[in-house]
Amino acid sequence: MKQETSSQPRQVFNSQSAFIMAAVGSAVGLGNIWRFPYVAYENGGGAFILPYLIALLTVGIPFLFLDYSIGHKFRSSSPLNFRLLNRGTEPIGWVHVGIAFVIAIYYAVIIAWAICYTFFSINQTWGDDAETFFGSTFLQQSTEATFSLQPVTGVLLPLIAVWVITLFILVGGVQNGIARVSKIFLPVLMVLFLALVVRSLMLPGAAEGLDAFFTPNFSALTDPHVWIATYGQIFFSLSVAFGIMITYASYLKPRTNLTGSGMVVGFANSSFEILAGIGVFAALGFMAHQTGTPVSDAVAGGPGLAFVAFPSLISQMPGGSIFGILFFLSLVFAGLTSLISLVQVVTAAVADKLGISPKTSTIVFGGVMAVASCVLYPTVTGMSVLDVVDAFVNNLGIVGIALVVLICLAWVIRALPMLRDHLNKVSSFKVGWVWMALLGVVIPLVLGYMFISSTYDMATNGYGEYPGWFVGVFGWGMVAGLVVFAVVLSLIPWRKGTVEAARAHHDEAQKEISSADNQGDPA
Ligand code: ALA
Repeated sequence: MKQETSSQPRQVFNSQSAFIMAAVGSAVGLGNIWRFPYVAYENGGGAFILPYLIALLTVGIPFLFLDYSIGHKFRSSSPLNFRLLNRGTEPIGWVHVGIAFVIAIYYAVIIAWAICYTFFSINQTWGDDAETFFGSTFLQQSTEATFSLQPVTGVLLPLIAVWVITLFILVGGVQNGIARVSKIFLPVLMVLFLALVVRSLMLPGAAEGLDAFFTPNFSALTDPHVWIATYGQIFFSLSVAFGIMITYASYLKPRTNLTGSGMVVGFANSSFEILAGIGVFAALGFMAHQTGTPVSDAVAGGPGLAFVAFPSLISQMPGGSIFGILFFLSLVFAGLTSLISLVQVVTAAVADKLGISPKTSTIVFGGVMAVASCVLYPTVTGMSVLDVVDAFVNNLGIVGIALVVLICLAWVIRALPMLRDHLNKVSSFKVGWVWMALLGVVIPLVLGYMFISSTYDMATNGYGEYPGWFVGVFGWGMVAGLVVFAVVLSLIPWRKGTVEAARAHHDEAQKEISSADNQGDPA
């Protein structure tokens, strides 16, 4: 018996390598290219590499295995998987959907900026003052602390293009859309980015940049904020804890080596991340060299690093236009393969809930996301909304739901042994008590601390220079909205037969795995 949602059988990735390409495509994204180098730099430079690797091994990879085991065992979208695990845990899946929705609609805008900047690189449209160009000329940001939906056409048009491309890829389906595009985009991204890193390393001043990136600052290791930043970066960057890897793993064939694939994805993503750090800091070293300032002054955070510091350095370097095109095109390719994974979390869940086909869900609900994105962000106050939403959805939303998942699975419904057994049945690398202890005890303690401290910090100090009402609406209001959304969606009944069909699909896959075991087949 095949699964619900439409008259068609559930989609699958044709091969493990197709899945790995898609999963690496999802993991490697804007987070690697503009977020990691900045977060690393702010948090102790070279000393960050050590907590980063520790966090990767103690949280990133174990959480990735957890997401894989849930998605692969229950073989559905995140809310339906959690519904199958236990009726009471369904809201967790809807929080994942809400977070993916919220992130996707601003993530698309950053890709739209990168498309514009690819063209701007040709004749260095930003002129002498990249900062004023970015905020005032390009984004036309209002100087007042207000909210407005007044559109900025220069961002709106490329944003529409981003959504058309994204939905077009997703309509192709899991294998012919997601996997096929990842197989093309990922190698293109690697070539572009390697060329960029090699070019950066040849610039005068590159060594100072690398020094700034790699010089250890061991006192940072005792700073809790460094650890908080590291864990936040690992979740965002690996695409774990907000439904993406659960959804992608649900499209794997029953007999698939889960932990083996997880290792490949985890290490590929982190290698790319460190490579990006090297490329970006070598380039910033050049900039510092040109202007005679320390490298630390050459760095601005988040959007600033990519869209202000980079244009400035492009203007100063020989052959800067080509460098700019390589950099911004890398952002576009890396961003698109991550954006499709974010949108898929939402459309797969709605398809399951309403019993409609994945294609219809992509067109209708992907369309809803596109409209929300185009209304809210390419506006004169869009950048401020993006800044607040990004901080709250990452620091409170993802960390909060990761914590809830672990407490529920480890201590309330005690599902970890079952998920461990599932992983071990199909995988080459077995997990045991270390994995359980990390997920059941160590990570909840660390995340619990992070969650409480971030919440306390944001509640007492506000966020940035924004007025209280603004943070109240787009920060706290958005997080509260996620919770309400999750509860309401869980109260809406599944279409008749959906849960039963998903359970039957699960049983059938389990039988296939067991029969392979009995025949002595390797997993
Ligand atoms: N994992 C994706 C990124 O790093 C979301 O951007």
